[in-house]
Amino acid sequence: MPSVLFRRAVTGAVAALTALAVATPALAGGGSTVGSPGLGDSYFPLAGNGGYDVRHYSLDLDYTRAGNHLDGTAVITARATQNLTRFDLDLRGFTISSLRVDGAKAQFSRDGQELVVTPKRMLRAGRTFTVRVDYAGEPTEVIDPDGSSEGWVPTPDGAFVVNEPQGSPGWYPANDNPRDKATFDFAITVPKGITAIGNGRLVGKHDHKGKTTWRWREDSPMATYLATATNGVFELRVSKVGRIPLYHAVDPVEVPKGAFDRLAAEAEVITFFSKLYGPYPFSSGGGIVDHAPEVGYALESQTKSQYDETPGAGTVVHEIAHQWFGNSVTLTVWQDIWLNEGFAAFSEWIYDERHGGDTAQQSFDASFARPATSSFWTRPPANVGGPAVMFSSPVYDRGAMTLQALRVKIGDKAFFALLRDWYAHNRDGNVTTADFIRLAEKRGHQQLDAFFQTWLYQPSKPTAW
Ligand code: ARG
Ligand code: ZN
Repeated sequence: MPSVLFRRAVTGAVAALTALAVATPALAGGGSTVGSPGLGDSYFPLAGNGGYDVRHYSLDLDYTRAGNHLDGTAVITARATQNLTRFDLDLRGFTISSLRVDGAKAQFSRDGQELVVTPKRMLRAGRTFTVRVDYAGEPTEVIDPDGSSEGWVPTPDGAFVVNEPQGSPGWYPANDNPRDKATFDFAITVPKGITAIGNGRLVGKHDHKGKTTWRWREDSPMATYLATATNGVFELRVSKVGRIPLYHAVDPVEVPKGAFDRLAAEAEVITFFSKLYGPYPFSSGGGIVDHAPEVGYALESQTKSQYDETPGAGTVVHEIAHQWFGNSVTLTVWQDIWLNEGFAAFSEWIYDERHGGDTAQQSFDASFARPATSSFWTRPPANVGGPAVMFSSPVYDRGAMTLQALRVKIGDKAFFALLRDWYAHNRDGNVTTADFIRLAEKRGHQQLDAFFQTWLYQPSKPTAW
């Protein structure tokens, strides 16, 4: 795979393509009382599970970097969407000491990333239930089909915790599919002197016996891949944009590199996109600059974008744009990753245009200048070719070009109204490429099948559209 395709360079690791070989599981047939072991995503067939809908995760974690030991209790509140005599969660590694459903001991077994749970009594469709999992061990880092590391990634002083697309089961039991969003509570206990950061607002911090417990709460629905519990030595500063608290955490190694100044720019970026797209989606915001160069990418974790090192200004704009597109308006299948990355990349272009830099059309032209023979054009953004290339440059750049081409085709007025509507209609929800095409046709007052076919699916350089 040509590494030139990668935008945010993935360091060293060898691509593990085995995930591609996993067969799509048959979805549980009507009448079955067994929740399916996956949701049939074509990129990650076993991620997520059928038969229930998670409402809330309450994660109580105790981590010591020395020994790399994580002790966890997860209490998951879910609603059965079918009768369930058995269901799965996704969890990789760890030893489970106790598993309870509604307070009663349940049987369980492990099968790869599937944690198979058999409750004492059948859960009737429509019923809300809780699963409590007590687990402990050394977290296993998840290596992606594109070779990058994710999940609970140890750093010299803690861990950098990022999970797009499949790292979450490396540190908590989950229904690990972006369509099952839920609210989250975190209680993260770390040695005194270490800062632990979850999503959402800081709701408590308390010292006891040489340790500190940090409590965070995210009250907007969140996809599992956007959760975090990054910890280490950090300087934490709290500020505000309007009524929204911003939490900025920087590893001391990154402070002299200007990390706080980069993060301070978030306030203006949030204000800019709030005007352009609609109100900021969440009740808090911020960012974390860790020192984790082996990770090699940034991630838009909900309310707290994460950077493996001091980011460039454009990267901050990109990750903040994801709070609207990706985090609030979330894809349903991973093949639609351009709905996240193309929108965030276009957001960088329009930000530059409105701040005296290159116009989005100039950025489009620069991207379009790639020769027709370039392999860039063989990977259309809405069918890029699988999980090993899901974060390759066509998803970002040709995704953004699709939006700029659409802007020219339907005009600024309809185009920006479309982006506002896309957000307003799908806030806290999940979407597909087909949904976007439908809304674009409505707002653009024209049939756009051929246009989107050319830009999103044609495996060669567009010539006319
Ligand atoms: N969504 C991230 C960004 O655009 C990229 C995540 C890359 N993840 C990975 N496993 N390669 O900034
Ligand atoms: Zn992105």
